Amino acid sequence: MAKKKILAIVGSLREGSWNRQLAEAAGQYLGDKADFEILDYADIPYMNEDLEADPPASIQRVRDKVQAADGLWFFTPEYNHSYPGLLKNLIDWLSRPLNDGNRAVIIGKPAAISGASMGGGGTVVAQDLLVMLLSMLNLKIMNQPRLTIARVQEQAEDGKLKLADSQAYLEKQADAYLKFLDQIA
Ligand code: FNR
Repeated sequence: MAKKKILAIVGSLREGSWNRQLAEAAGQYLGDKADFEILDYADIPYMNEDLEADPPASIQRVRDKVQAADGLWFFTPEYNHSYPGLLKNLIDWLSRPLNDGNRAVIIGKPAAISGASMGGGGTVVAQDLLVMLLSMLNLKIMNQPRLTIARVQEQAEDGKLKLADSQAYLEKQADAYLKFLDQIA
């Protein structure tokens, strides 16, 4: 079976973001078992329907990346018991039908969800709300296993994620997601 293209979507722009480091660790674990890439979307504008007739190049770029992906793997922080607004903004753009009449690129994509927070909840509420949003858009969500990492800073040294306790769960989720993508194909 051909290698799957997994596009990671990180809900944080912070330099040194735990969630970005978690995505990088997933990519490292997957190695040559998948084509793994982290989506760069820091430059997309706020959703504005006035921009839709002639969307900027940044929107075309993220649409192309999502279109080409076999699966989307979300790595989300939790902001005030939800997912960050920048993630909602990206998903809102990806949820819109294209000007050529084709359907929105995000619809039907198989998705996995992970998240790390510094609080004790481990992003569980943010993830549940993200499931609600993605379900509305008919993504095929792998609900088990999902990875939730609480107090992530305890698994780090000098700002570098070490993942002592959570590495095995990350690997389990990555393996399950590869199987999920094969079953859906
Ligand atoms: C947070 N943080 C946070 N943590 C948590 O466990 N539950 C929460 O509801 C919140 N709320 C929240 C709101 C806002 C606006 C910010 C900026 C932060 C803390 C959060 O877990 C921490 O900043 C993480 O480090 C964010 O993830 P990244 O950016 O490191 O990936």
